[in-house]
Amino acid sequence: MTAVEDEVRRIEADAAPTRFARGWHCLGLAKDFQDGKPHQVLAFGQKLVVFSGEDGEVNVLDGYCRHMGGDLSQGTVKGNNIACPFHDWRWGGDGRCKEIPYARRVPMRARTASWPTLVQDGMLFVWNDPQGNQPPEDVTIPRIAGATDENWTDWTWYTTVIEGANCREIVDNVVDMAHFFYIHYSFPTYFKNIFEGTTATQFMEGTGREDVARPQNTGSNAPKSLGNSSVAAYHGPSFMIDDLTYHYEDGDIQSVLINCHYPIDSNSFVLQYGVIVEKKPGMDDAEANELARKMGDFIRLGFEQDVTIWKNKARIDNPLLCEEDGPVYQLRRWYEQFYVDVDDVTDEMTDRFEFEIDTDRPNEAWKREVAENIAAREAASSDQGQPV
Ligand code: FES
Ligand SMILES: [Fe+2]
Repeated sequence: MTAVEDEVRRIEADAAPTRFARGWHCLGLAKDFQDGKPHQVLAFGQKLVVFSGEDGEVNVLDGYCRHMGGDLSQGTVKGNNIACPFHDWRWGGDGRCKEIPYARRVPMRARTASWPTLVQDGMLFVWNDPQGNQPPEDVTIPRIAGATDENWTDWTWYTTVIEGANCREIVDNVVDMAHFFYIHYSFPTYFKNIFEGTTATQFMEGTGREDVARPQNTGSNAPKSLGNSSVAAYHGPSFMIDDLTYHYEDGDIQSVLINCHYPIDSNSFVLQYGVIVEKKPGMDDAEANELARKMGDFIRLGFEQDVTIWKNKARIDNPLLCEEDGPVYQLRRWYEQFYVDVDDVTDEMTDRFEFEIDTDRPNEAWKREVAENIAAREAASSDQGQPV
C-alpha cells in the first residue's frame, strides 16, 4: 500500500474538443473588413469569407463555393455579393446564390452556409452554433459606452495567432490570480469571481509590481500610480470586456480593454485585444492615443508571456490546486455550457457562483519577493559603482 502522499499525481487530459463553442465571437475591427475586398478567415475548423458590399453590411459565408469548390476569399465583391473567382457565381450575405451570369436560372439548391453577424462599437462579431440556430435575443454583447464617445480614443487593436494551444487555456486565466503576479507583473490585492448565466466575471484590485517598470508609469513627469481596479467579464465563451481604471495621484484614468479570441481549430486560436482610453481634460488626442498604445504594448508583453506558457504546457483536466488558487473547476463547468447542445446545458453550468480568494498569504509572500528583488538590484548596481 502506498500512502496518499507517496502516490504520483497523474496529469489527466482528454483530447481538446473538435466542436467549437456556441456564441458570439469577435473577428476584429469591423472597418478592417469594410474595404470592399473579400477576407479569408480561418475559424471554427473552416475557411470563411468575410466581405462587405455596397450596402455596407458585413457578411460571413463558408469560404468554398458550392458550384465547384472555388475559394470565395480569392473572389471579388460585386454589388452586395461575393463573386467566385472560378465561374463568377454571385453569393449574397444570406448564403443564397443570387446570380450566375452565364446561366438561365440559379439552381434551387444554390445555398451555402452563412453566419449571423453583429457590428457593434467598431467590432465585427459572428455567431457560431454547431446546432445551426440563430442567436437568442438575450444572448448578446453589451454596449461599450466609451467606444462611441468622442471623449475616448479609438481602438488600439492587436491580433496574434496562437499555435499549439486550445483556447480553454486563455479562459482559465479568469480565475488564475497567481499568474497575474508571475506572468503579467501585476500585484493582485483583491480577487473575486462571479459566474452566472453566460457571463463569467473577475474582479481584481491591484498595484503594479514595484520591481518591474510599467511603461505607462515611465517618463520624467509621469504621475505616481496608486494601483488599478479591474472588472473583467466574459460575455459568452470568447469575448471579454475589462473595465479597467488606473488610479494616479492626480486622479483616475478610465480605460476599456477587450480580450477576445476565436478558434482556428482545436489546437490553435486567434487572440485579439484592444484598448480605448478616456481623454482626461487637457489631454489632446495624440497624448490619449499614446497612452492607449503604451497600455496596449504593456498588455502585449503580458500576453506574450502567456503564449510562451501555453505553447509549452500540457493540457490538464485535473489541475492540482492549493487554497489560494481560484475556482478552476467551477469556471470550466461554466465554460462547458458552450460546448454542449442547448438542451444539455444544466443548471450547474449557469447557476450563480461566487468565490473570493483570501489574498493575505499571497500578498505577504509577494511583498517579500518584490522587496528582495529590489534589494538585489540595488546591491548589483552599487557593486558596479552606478548611482542607484
Ligand atoms: S466554383 Fe465557384 S463559380 Fe464555379
Ligand atoms: Fe494571462
